Amino acid sequence: MASKTSRDVLSRGLGVLRQAIREQPRIFSVAVVGSVLFGGMIIVSARVVGTVIGEVALPAISRGEVGAGTLALAAAALFGISVLRVAGIFGRRLGAGYMQYRLQASYRRRVTRRYLELPLSWHHRNSTGTLLSNANSDVEAAWYPIAPLPFAVGTLVMLVGAIVSLFATDWALALVGLAVFPALFALNVVYSRRMAPRQARAQRLRAEVSGIAHESFDGALVVKTMGREAQETARFAGRAGELRDSLIAVGRLRGVFDPLLETLPSLGTLAVLVVGAFRLRQGAISVTELVSVAFLFTVLAFPVRAIGWVLAELPRSVAGWDRVRRVLDATGEMPYGQRVLDQDSAGAATLTFRDVHFSYPPAEAHQTGAQVLGEVGFTVPAGRTVALVGPTGAGKSTIASLAVRLVDPDSGAVTLDGVDVRELTAASLAGAVALVAQVPFVFDDTVRANIALDRPGIDDEAVWAALRLAEADGFVAALPDGLDTMVGERGTSLSGGQRQRLTLARALAGRPRLLVLDDATSAVDPRVEAAILAGLRSSAAEPGVPVASILVVAYRRATIALADEVIYVEQGRVLARGTHSELLATVPGYVDLVTAYEQAEVERAQESAYGDEVAPLPSGLEIEVDR
Ligand SMILES: Nc1ncnc2c1ncn2[C@@H]1O[C@H](COP(=O)(O)OP(=O)(O)OP(=O)(O)O)[C@@H](O)[C@H]1O
Ligand SMILES: [Mg+2]
Repeated sequence: MASKTSRDVLSRGLGVLRQAIREQPRIFSVAVVGSVLFGGMIIVSARVVGTVIGEVALPAISRGEVGAGTLALAAAALFGISVLRVAGIFGRRLGAGYMQYRLQASYRRRVTRRYLELPLSWHHRNSTGTLLSNANSDVEAAWYPIAPLPFAVGTLVMLVGAIVSLFATDWALALVGLAVFPALFALNVVYSRRMAPRQARAQRLRAEVSGIAHESFDGALVVKTMGREAQETARFAGRAGELRDSLIAVGRLRGVFDPLLETLPSLGTLAVLVVGAFRLRQGAISVTELVSVAFLFTVLAFPVRAIGWVLAELPRSVAGWDRVRRVLDATGEMPYGQRVLDQDSAGAATLTFRDVHFSYPPAEAHQTGAQVLGEVGFTVPAGRTVALVGPTGAGKSTIASLAVRLVDPDSGAVTLDGVDVRELTAASLAGAVALVAQVPFVFDDTVRANIALDRPGIDDEAVWAALRLAEADGFVAALPDGLDTMVGERGTSLSGGQRQRLTLARALAGRPRLLVLDDATSAVDPRVEAAILAGLRSSAAEPGVPVASILVVAYRRATIALADEVIYVEQGRVLARGTHSELLATVPGYVDLVTAYEQAEVERAQESAYGDEVAPLPSGLEIEVDR
């Protein structure tokens, strides 16, 4: 079983190498030519060294004199060989380096690109830590064997040359070579097979350790406030310990095999000297030839290791490659269509949900996803504001995701100006709709960059206009460097409400024709929230920023009252629709929800006014007070 999998690793590893050569054939050729030049020079140098010793040094010692011309010739030959060898090393190293780093860069790009193409459902199933290690250590691991590969290929060519050269010299010495070289090769193969499972394990643990680290840094606040430092450290230490043990296991194997690989060629040299001495006495070979062969065995030892390096890296490479392929081959991306929305109708767009059903993909393959939305149908007419109201978990965020096509419905359709959003091009969709998500995301960059996002046509004037609409111009103007202020990783230097208004301004700066606000101003003062929505609704507020249709998930009575229509959802179904006052009069659940939320807000305000007394949750209602 174990040997079957390691044979598998060997053949799959060779497949990865073939892939690399297919992608970078020219650079690979340069490196191999360099490597073959180097190997050829090793064989030639063995001959020359033998000749110099047999024809120059020995006669000189026995006669006691050296011909200056002969000496100069020998020196010139050795020098020439060295120059060619250096050129070979240069070509090989340069080629191998180029090839390895080019492949790494290219696959990093491909992995990152694929991440962005894959749908949200895929990201829900894959942790950020895993993604980070896919783009970093897995890509690197996949291409590790590329560095010694040209050397190994050149060495194989050299070994063939060496055997030929040995047979040309003497069959007995050739037999020694035939015994030693394959043994060396076999030892390397055994080594790499033993290494396979250990390397794969280490690679997997590396990803897990980075995943845990990422999660605890991300959740540092929770860890600290809940006093979970010790447990979190223990969780990390456990995996880090496993990684340490698995790396030590790798080192132990190296410790056993490295000396063996070192010793075998030396034993070969010894055998050559013993056999060679006999053959010399029989007169079958000359001193020149014996010295050549002995020298050849000495200098061969090092290049043969290159084959071992490649084989030893193959398991890790295969493990990394599998993890990279898992991303590149992942399916389920949402292809975009070819249609564009009519550019003449630059005003607000009409959003329609037609009998939309939706379920999230199950966490495990054997489960079936529970339906989250059923028979959802409503329209946000052009230029109108529709409020989406419902208890927590009702499906409001899911509706918002569908409206901007983060996910597609199982059945039914979402249309913009009558066009199914699945038929739109990516650019047309992105230009028409903007979502301000429930949890604001801010890049570690300046305020300006966060709002403009490098989109064309958004100059400082447009940024300020968007900030004014989002009621954020005041605090941005007060920042030390204004638009140039760095906001810190995830906007840590801003308050929650400021972050929300920044992301709202980002959405507005793109002049969307449909704006989807998913509880986007919850951390903002109620009066400011109402002012923002009122501002968004009136075109007169900001010339240059066209009115958009607005779908807003809201809780506060003042905000909801501004909407033209309210859609009340519960458990993924639209239960009622109408104006705020109509729903107040007819839908008991709606009344409960809105009043309970209001009460919670009042209590929260009292809390902060009177001290730290904890107000009880409104009974029987699932309300997240901490909005
Ligand atoms: N990524 C997901 N995978 C599986 N189920 C999900 C996922 N996101 C949400 N759900 C489920 O879908 C349902 C609707 O969630 P949704 O986020 O749309 O609710 P919501 O109305 O926005 O709630 P809230 O007011 O708390 O934001 C919930 O039952 C939730 O558990
Ligand atoms: Mg939500």
